[in-house]
Amino acid sequence: MAFINRKPLPSISLLYPCSTMAVKGLYLLLAIALTFIVVFDFSTAYDRPPAGKPLFVSNDRDSTSPQQVHISLVGEDKIRVTWISEDPTPATVRYDTSPEPDTVYYYQCGLNSSPVFSFKTPPTQFPIKFAIVGDLGQTDWTNSTLQHVSKSNYNVFLLPGDLSYADTEQPLWDSFGMVVEPLASQRPWMVTQGNHEIEKISAIHEDTFTAYNARWHMPFEESGSASNLYYSFEVFGVHVIMLGSYTDFGAGSEQYKWLQSDLGKVDRTKTPWLVVLLHAPWYNSNYAHQGESESIDMKEAMEDLLYGARVDVVFAGHVHAYERFTRVYKGDANDCAPAYITIGDGGNRNGLASKFIDPQPQISIFREASFGHGELEVVNATHAMWAWHRNHDDESVISDTFWLRNLAFVSASQA
Ligand SMILES: *[C@@H]1O[C@H](CO)[C@@H](O)[C@H](O)[C@H]1NC(C)=O
Ligand SMILES: *[C@@H]1O[C@H](CO)[C@@H](O)[C@H](O)[C@H]1NC(C)=O
Ligand SMILES: [Fe+2]
Repeated sequence: MAFINRKPLPSISLLYPCSTMAVKGLYLLLAIALTFIVVFDFSTAYDRPPAGKPLFVSNDRDSTSPQQVHISLVGEDKIRVTWISEDPTPATVRYDTSPEPDTVYYYQCGLNSSPVFSFKTPPTQFPIKFAIVGDLGQTDWTNSTLQHVSKSNYNVFLLPGDLSYADTEQPLWDSFGMVVEPLASQRPWMVTQGNHEIEKISAIHEDTFTAYNARWHMPFEESGSASNLYYSFEVFGVHVIMLGSYTDFGAGSEQYKWLQSDLGKVDRTKTPWLVVLLHAPWYNSNYAHQGESESIDMKEAMEDLLYGARVDVVFAGHVHAYERFTRVYKGDANDCAPAYITIGDGGNRNGLASKFIDPQPQISIFREASFGHGELEVVNATHAMWAWHRNHDDESVISDTFWLRNLAFVSASQA
């Protein structure tokens, strides 16, 4: 790797830019399958307001110019830069100087003639702000959501599954890469998978998550996981666990054992906050996606682990609406359990899940079928502010807020 400043970088290093060859091979393979477009969504017995118009962004850079640039955190003080190019480019990233925390850096990938991007490293003190939204897709609503997120001054983006809605149409993965590049090249984007990432085509392409794993390589190796489908990472004071709803989760499964071991390593004096993301919500009072194994059986298998570890909050997507639950354990309000938030309202092309089950369960505090996004600002070791922003036409309107008290520091009676 060639750096403009050839001094070793003490606090940051670059790993594994996306392999051009791998992506091209993938293209060929999946191009054959284009006529078999698999739609993973379930039939809808409820009315949804219209989805946004599709947003397709094509690449207008030359064939050796990196496109779909995005960055992610890899272990302590490291950033991975990922890009795709039509023709091979050097796997090189140039920096202006040695990165420090909470600072903007300029960088260039591939050839000297390619575009210059900038990113901001996360701070190494509170506050830390996460932008969180699932089921992003690529429609007009996605654009509104991303416009609002870009104004939020967030440090790290968290996506609880369902990214591109390519559903095996590979050009839509490329377009998604371009739609998110303005944001994902500037701040770490940390994602986990949803059902739309599976892309298994019976008899033609038996493997699952091929495009997702190639394009969105997350730091699973660094977190002792055997699969890109579940992993963990830390930002100052916060341990984030990304679970996989669409891989084995039963007691005794690889994921289950990894989760047990990862939770066992968490040191709440170092990372007071413990946050979990997954796709299919364990608590949900919307008519959409009731009764699915990924919700019911995964909760059955893993709820005790999260409860025992005093996880602060669990974010999910899948249901295209917003819903916030109180702290819940085995269906009942419980001061020592995680709070549950469904934030599957990014802007996908299938529209909103607009019907909630009546009466509203007591454990469901706030629910609304609108597009939007969430922001979790971790203020200090004991307090974090959650704010849900509705896309109100083109405006971002804060519509639900609450203070989350850290479970490692607060006795049950105060929670
Ligand atoms: C996204 O929205 C902004 C602001 O409304 C607009 O300027 C921009 O052209 C939109 N982007 C796309 C790709 O449509
Ligand atoms: C943490 O932040 C909350 C909310 O702003 C504040 O009330 C509390 O005093 C802070 N705690 C410390 C130790 O600063
Ligand atoms: Fe989903």
